Amino acid sequence: MSQQRWSGRFAQAMDPEAVIYGASIGFDQKLARYDIQGSLAYAQALQRAGLLTTQELKRIKQGLQEVLAQVEAGKLKWRTEWEDIHMHVEKALTQKIGALGGKLHTGRSRNDQVATDVRLYCMDHLQQLIEAVRTFQAVLVERAEHWLGVMVPGYTHLQRAQPVLLSHHMMAYVEMLARDEERLQVALKHTSVLPLGSGALAGNPFPIDRVQLAKDLGFSDISHNSLDAVSDRDFAVEITAAAALLMVHLSRLSEELIMWSSTEFGFLKLPESYCTGSSMMPQKINPDIPELVRGKTGRVVGHLVGLLTLLKGQPLAYNKDMQEDKEALFDTFETLLPSVAVLGAMMSQLEVHEARMNDAASDPAMLATDLADWLVRMGLPFREAHEVSARAVRYSVEENISLAAIPLPQLKKFHGIITEDIYEALRPEQSMAHRAAVGGSARKNVLKEIRRHQKRLK
Ligand code: ARG
Repeated sequence: MSQQRWSGRFAQAMDPEAVIYGASIGFDQKLARYDIQGSLAYAQALQRAGLLTTQELKRIKQGLQEVLAQVEAGKLKWRTEWEDIHMHVEKALTQKIGALGGKLHTGRSRNDQVATDVRLYCMDHLQQLIEAVRTFQAVLVERAEHWLGVMVPGYTHLQRAQPVLLSHHMMAYVEMLARDEERLQVALKHTSVLPLGSGALAGNPFPIDRVQLAKDLGFSDISHNSLDAVSDRDFAVEITAAAALLMVHLSRLSEELIMWSSTEFGFLKLPESYCTGSSMMPQKINPDIPELVRGKTGRVVGHLVGLLTLLKGQPLAYNKDMQEDKEALFDTFETLLPSVAVLGAMMSQLEVHEARMNDAASDPAMLATDLADWLVRMGLPFREAHEVSARAVRYSVEENISLAAIPLPQLKKFHGIITEDIYEALRPEQSMAHRAAVGGSARKNVLKEIRRHQKRLK
């Protein structure tokens, strides 16, 4: 015979398969310390409302601390028939302090309780994730400063386009991650709203000071509609949305690391301590870590879609469907936190092949625009300048020499206006220096951005 809290109402015991199907203890045990934290604060609120004596409060608190110690020591046995973490804590408490344990649930429902626990879990993990994202940004900014002299081809359509600083390329990811950080902050703000004190759906019938309760639990606000409070999982969607986008950014960076470390690119070497070998091909060094980050992006994006789908058909207020929110959230954090940490640590040890990058960045074809721009500065219409440049490019390809190595008399054949000065424009450094409008790859701009982000990340 099963022993659920509500079993007095039932003439029939629950079907064993249904018990197993409905139980969430297999995963919501991760909420144990948040559940106890919530109960400690709620007991205090009950005492303040005159529903518990000081003595009763003391015993309940003591009992809850013991349950917490028991959980942390791995000594609380999880039983499927006790359904979920809330029942487990209450049963364990009652076993310790007797019938008094039953007073804790006064005015409270598992509906406002679970919403509170999940939010506490998320607040805690969001803070960790925000910290991790900041550390990751700091690594990228440090790398950008370290590599400030290194050039790399900038690509569009994965075709060499114009030379940029490697630092500029790195700082593009810092911009993405800075927005990710902001999105996580907004998600944190929306998560930090206390549902406890909403009862099952209609509100708490006792004079609970919810504002004080929120303060005690570290929430920055309280909910203002009990129906919404027990059924709102917007915060979970916002968290997974921010997480999915963050993961997409990490995935794009990973993809570049994988490509750039290939023999075809040869731009960088991943630290061996983050790579694996092949059991068959001795020459292989495989970029497993960035590949896994790229691969794990799928599950996080999946959690966002899963949660949206979970919510879309639910009438107000709480429905058991909601129980399905937890694994998505847990897995989101359990995927994101190590992904950010391991990729950041790997980035901090990345070696780049500067000569190879500089060489690739000096591809003459990428300075063709600069040749045209020089002619434009001399007063030629861009169309004509473009054509002159195109003829010079063709000549350099046919003669197999760099654009910058074409002798002046030859260049003059393409246009008489060309002088010795043009060679100054045909250097990748000069090409970048010209791009001095805010946001461009000029060295002084990039340095300014590095300093701006360093200040922000302090
Ligand atoms: N395990 C449940 C969940 O995760 C707790 C809330 C149960 N509430 C209820 N009315 N059955 O959602």
